[in-house]
Amino acid sequence: MSEDSFDLVVIGSGPGGYVAAIRAAQNGLNVACVEKGSTLGGTCLNVGCMPSKALLHASEVYDSAKNHMAELGVDATGVKLNLKQMMAQKDKTVSDLTGGIAYLFKKNKVTHFEGFGSLKDKNTVEIKPTKGKAKTIKADNIIIATGSEVSTLPGIKIDEKIVVSSTGALSLPKVPKHLLVIGGGVIGLELGSVWKRLGAKVTVVEYLDRLIPGMDLEVAKNFARILKKQGFDIKTSSKVVDVKTTKTGAKVKVEPAKGGKAETIAADVVLMAVGRKPYTEGLGLEKLGVEMDKIGRIKVSGDFSSSVSNIYAIGDVIEGPMLAHKAEDEGVACADNIAGLAGHVNHDVIPGVIYTMPEVSAVGKTEEDLKEAGIAYNSGKFPFTANSRAKANHQTDGFVKVLTDKETDKVLGVHIIGSDAGNMIAEAALALEFGASAEDIALTCHAHPTQTEAVKEAAMAAFGKPIHM
Ligand code: NAI
Repeated sequence: MSEDSFDLVVIGSGPGGYVAAIRAAQNGLNVACVEKGSTLGGTCLNVGCMPSKALLHASEVYDSAKNHMAELGVDATGVKLNLKQMMAQKDKTVSDLTGGIAYLFKKNKVTHFEGFGSLKDKNTVEIKPTKGKAKTIKADNIIIATGSEVSTLPGIKIDEKIVVSSTGALSLPKVPKHLLVIGGGVIGLELGSVWKRLGAKVTVVEYLDRLIPGMDLEVAKNFARILKKQGFDIKTSSKVVDVKTTKTGAKVKVEPAKGGKAETIAADVVLMAVGRKPYTEGLGLEKLGVEMDKIGRIKVSGDFSSSVSNIYAIGDVIEGPMLAHKAEDEGVACADNIAGLAGHVNHDVIPGVIYTMPEVSAVGKTEEDLKEAGIAYNSGKFPFTANSRAKANHQTDGFVKVLTDKETDKVLGVHIIGSDAGNMIAEAALALEFGASAEDIALTCHAHPTQTEAVKEAAMAAFGKPIHM
């Protein structure tokens, strides 16, 4: 096989693309990955999950030292913010992680091409580097893993200085006095939390009458209450209709969602966090007849093949939540399918986590889903105020809710709000994947004292027999 001909070419090196490339190489395929960015890892590693988690952790340590350590008997008087160093450690985390993927590519013999990849025909990928001449490579199979890009509102331009996307919000040169966030979803609340902890006043404008749409409503209401207690100004049922910028800030016009009297709010920085859209522009998909849905996502079958059989798609460019771990699992399954194995993703069991303090996590059905589907269910709830470890850690905000089938006791959904909710949801995902009942969780020995005991207690509450409540 010539150097420029591959069994598989993956376009995009985010969590979907790089994982697919590695698994395909493990399956014995000759694989190339084309990435337009100067580093590997896509949005997640470069300007998404990883830098945001580095800032969430560092800002939480700062907030804790400033506001919460004294009650634990730790005198941290004189704690000061060094924003330059906080950003530097975040950048170092990112460069270590993107370098890690370059290492994994070498180890697995995945060929990396830097440049913008597009399809000349169904077996030819053109690569246009930022500098130098374009070249083409041949591919028996192609995976589109180009991810998503930030959405904005009509008439509002993101300049990454005053009006920023998540990318700009990860690198602000100073703490804004007032950050106005448009959109009360995951990005708005995570990055809002970072800058709130570092000293900004944060106002969140959300179109709907609730935060974090798609998550369980009871969890969302409790989350909003906790965030308000932390000092967030949350305006639900409100829409931003205009943003006027100057060199130093913005005047944001906010109206009730249904229309009515507008108010103007002054802010130093405005964060646009109203969602993301699939990134498929310029790939040449239309001329090859690759079918898309109404909102620009590539239509795929269960094996992730598109309407052109050797062209596959995974991650944010197809249906489903725009989550790194969903893209990763699809990458593995798709690479296995191309190698003739039986790759599969259970899309009913994709956990979701919001990395605020407390964290919010969920897997499976919400109460609203079950009501809409007319499924009779039991709900078992256990608050962290009754969990000994949470009490010892002074982290008693939140609860675990386990939803089960009323007839069979099968676990249908688990929803957690609590300081360690992100880690705790793994147990619930496993329970759902194995079709466990609440009794199965209750009969599983949970280490004491841990916050995971709250999952066991909520499971016991689902059939009416919690011990500590
Ligand atoms: P999102 O879909 O989570 O939230 C967007 C919010 O903006 C929604 O609450 C929506 O109702 C609101 N909205 C829409 N139009 C509006 C308007 N005109 N005025 C006011 N509010 C409006 O999207 P977000 O936060 O931008 O995140 C993008 C994607 O990235 C999501 O799919 C999310 O799952 C993913 N992500 C996941 C993370 C995680 O798993 N921890 C972290 C960050 C992002």
